[in-house]
Amino acid sequence: MSCHKKAYITTPIYYVNDIAHIGHAYTTIIADTVARYARLSGLDVFFLTGTDEHGQKIEESAKVRGKSTQQYADEISATFRSLWDDFGISYDKFIRTTDAYHIKGVQKAFDTMYQNGDIYKDSYKGHYCISCETFFTAIQLVDNEFCPECGKSTVIVEEESYFFRLSKYQDALLKWYDEKPDCILPRSKRNEVIRFVEGGLMDLSITRTSFDWGVKLPQAMNDPKHVMYVWLDALMNYVTALGYGNDEARMDYWPARVHLIGKDILRFHAIYWPAFLMSLGLPLPRHIAAHGWWTRDGEKMSKSKGNVVNPREIADVYGLDNFRYFMLREVPFGGDGDFSQKALIDRINSDLGNDLGNLLNRLIGMSGKYFEGRVESISVATYYQAELDEVHASLDLLEPFLFEMQIHRYLEELWRPLSVANKSIDKYQPWVLMKEGKEDEAMALNGLIAAILAKVAVMLYPVMPMVCNKIAGSLEFVIDNNSWMALIKERSLLESFTIQKIEPLFPRIEAPLLEQIEPVDIKESLKKETKTDSKSKEEKAEGVALIGIDHFFETLLKIGTIVEAQEVPKSKKLLLLQVDIGEEHPRQVVAGIREWYTPQTLIGTQVCVVSNLQPAKLMGMKSEGMLLAAKDESGLSLLRPEAPKAVGTQVR
Ligand code: MSP
Repeated sequence: MSCHKKAYITTPIYYVNDIAHIGHAYTTIIADTVARYARLSGLDVFFLTGTDEHGQKIEESAKVRGKSTQQYADEISATFRSLWDDFGISYDKFIRTTDAYHIKGVQKAFDTMYQNGDIYKDSYKGHYCISCETFFTAIQLVDNEFCPECGKSTVIVEEESYFFRLSKYQDALLKWYDEKPDCILPRSKRNEVIRFVEGGLMDLSITRTSFDWGVKLPQAMNDPKHVMYVWLDALMNYVTALGYGNDEARMDYWPARVHLIGKDILRFHAIYWPAFLMSLGLPLPRHIAAHGWWTRDGEKMSKSKGNVVNPREIADVYGLDNFRYFMLREVPFGGDGDFSQKALIDRINSDLGNDLGNLLNRLIGMSGKYFEGRVESISVATYYQAELDEVHASLDLLEPFLFEMQIHRYLEELWRPLSVANKSIDKYQPWVLMKEGKEDEAMALNGLIAAILAKVAVMLYPVMPMVCNKIAGSLEFVIDNNSWMALIKERSLLESFTIQKIEPLFPRIEAPLLEQIEPVDIKESLKKETKTDSKSKEEKAEGVALIGIDHFFETLLKIGTIVEAQEVPKSKKLLLLQVDIGEEHPRQVVAGIREWYTPQTLIGTQVCVVSNLQPAKLMGMKSEGMLLAAKDESGLSLLRPEAPKAVGTQVR
């Protein structure tokens, strides 16, 4: 270890009113990358993620699904956790705001702020957006009614409330932004925050009485009808996770090196959070880094459009490391990004396949052909010092890019050594060197290429851990703090070794692997949500919309017999079925029914199939139809004919 400086890195804690999508994955993957680099460079890292489980929005989501709020929160929180586990996210702690120690810590914070004179009781009347858990003034509303952030209807709330003296901290906040120009990253975002604060801060309502699902005030307040405002509760997670208000065991990790967030929650993190910390007498975080927004094929992602990108599906089909690389390379941090399969495939084929994967193949080929796989580094500096200097100059620039969240520039710069390597092969032509009897020079060239690949693998490891471990395996070394020290800081070369042949890392992708990206679970939750009482106008209209008979007959429903059924590996939800609907071949259907049916009980039974649905791919498998089913609180049942019918019989 070079030193034991601490680095505390956090993601936002995710609301449990929906399952994870590409936006959540993005924040988490950036944080994971920074945490991995920090560990590699010898820092003592604590990496926190978790779920935000209180508030009216979550209470309502649970109600809609007919579940107790706690049970619902447990289930969705577990889906986040298992996604991060499956993605190999290297978090050290997963916090839930329903954890008892967190609740105790939040109450301690409330009490401290109250003792410090920063909390007072008053009454509040305002326009409240349940979805954003935020009050707005009348002039902020769109058309006198709708939330300026999300466009949903607001409600007028008048209630007794405790207030936090945010206004008192206005000058101190402005001083902080001024003295620490990189407290908010990217720096351009800092100006937005400064302008907002200069416009004047109102005191903040921090308790609610109209619902129950939240942290109660400390006992000593003797005011049981109040629960705490979710953002006070949520922001406190960053210190309760370290033991604040409990055993304080890990408080020496505070202040955070970086809070990673999306731009939509910058105001909460850059204004409320430092003000709360000042009130508590705690130091302020070093960086708050806000990334941009992802769209899909140029459009905003939304549940109603059904175009939300499911990160698990993309990672399953295109490879997790490739997906990580794409997200971090494609968009300048802070800017918005667009997800499309084309853009992802271009990155894989070009940056990864041509520049990186091919270089390793070339090295394996050259060393195999001329030296039986041996690679020696002894004479590299003799022949190729200029190339080494160029490579090291690039590598020296990298670390600050990463810690300032310029990860796209980090990756861009990291590709320079690869280009030096590829160009060196073209320029010095080892086959010519061999022909001319300059074996020593040819061997040194291989040593140069191996060293460059090794150095790039070390620095790329935080972004693509699995791929880089494979490269390191092929070059017979291990990526860790020692190799980081040697190869990057001390500019060493690899020892002599025999290269291990490995399969090509990035086979070329000729066409999109998914015909249609199916946001399976999110669609599912949308169906459930339309049952709610608080329907939007659009949804209400949808509820009564009548269609003509012709419209109905556009859907071709047929009776089929399930002739084969099996589980889909790595999926808890899907079964792979072959359904005979009277055609030449059975139809392959991927159905999300595994929670309710085992393959054995399905074979030989009849079902009702939507037979003219555009084929889709789920977990990389083609699905050529959909089964009709009904689901309520007691579970899901497939719809079947009352008596057996010939396969292919139309249902009308
Ligand atoms: N619970 C709060 C955070 C509390 S932190 C003390 C919250 N949760 S969230 O689940 O709604 O969002 C979490 C993160 O996901 C945010 O950083 C947000 O920016 C990010 N994203 C959600 N949708 C996104 C995109 N479409 N694109 C990129 N990131 C987006 O807010």
